[in-house]
Amino acid sequence: MSFDRSIKIAPSILAADFANFGAECAAVEREGADWIHVDVMDGHFVPNISFGPATCAAIRPHIKGVMDVHLMIAPVDPYIDAFAQAGADVLTAHVEAGPHIHRTLQAIRGNGMKAGVALNPGTPAEAVGDLLDMADLICVMTVNPGFGGQKFIDMTAKIKSLRSMIGDRPIHIEIDGGVDSTTAPLVAKAGADVLVAGSAVFRGGSATESAPYGENIRAIRSAAQGVWT
Ligand code: DX5
Ligand code: ZN
Repeated sequence: MSFDRSIKIAPSILAADFANFGAECAAVEREGADWIHVDVMDGHFVPNISFGPATCAAIRPHIKGVMDVHLMIAPVDPYIDAFAQAGADVLTAHVEAGPHIHRTLQAIRGNGMKAGVALNPGTPAEAVGDLLDMADLICVMTVNPGFGGQKFIDMTAKIKSLRSMIGDRPIHIEIDGGVDSTTAPLVAKAGADVLVAGSAVFRGGSATESAPYGENIRAIRSAAQGVWT
């Protein structure tokens, strides 16, 4: 995985057809997705259950590019090896998921993956101030995690603070929750480069009729890139 700050669209398969993940991943990649965002929920850290490492391993052969796994689970550490084995490229844990996020990020990198750290809307940017040399990605949640299709919460000030704290470090800023062509410009302008979008991508089409996915991805990307033109 090479590093750059260009806008990357990462469809969240939480909004895809759960009986057809392989074809859905292939469809959004064919239609221009840069990364595939995979939401793992445990019914404990968040009030919803999605799926675990076995599903990630089953999806992996259907993804050509980056598999970006977002863990909404606690604890994290006992499962890091399983997600490495499942083929995650980026593994993101929440700073709120336990008392030892520093150790968790070390273990993620130690297992050969890029390490991401996610911040709930109520957690300030400063919570990752001592983790910047341990992290490859900071995920700013713009909804309270647990469900797709929620209303965007404006975290622009936090994104700007993180962008300035990061400086020249090769750290992605990812935005997750309520991203569409209306909200994408706000977060891109503040300094985000990876835009997760579930319901705004997987609407109007299907794995076999995937053209609407492409239109949705292009609409988000051009809205985000428009802030620089
Ligand atoms: C929320 C998940 C998100 C979610 C995004 O808990 O982490 O990735 O699927 O869905 P939308 O884009 O519909 O808000
Ligand atoms: Zn997510």
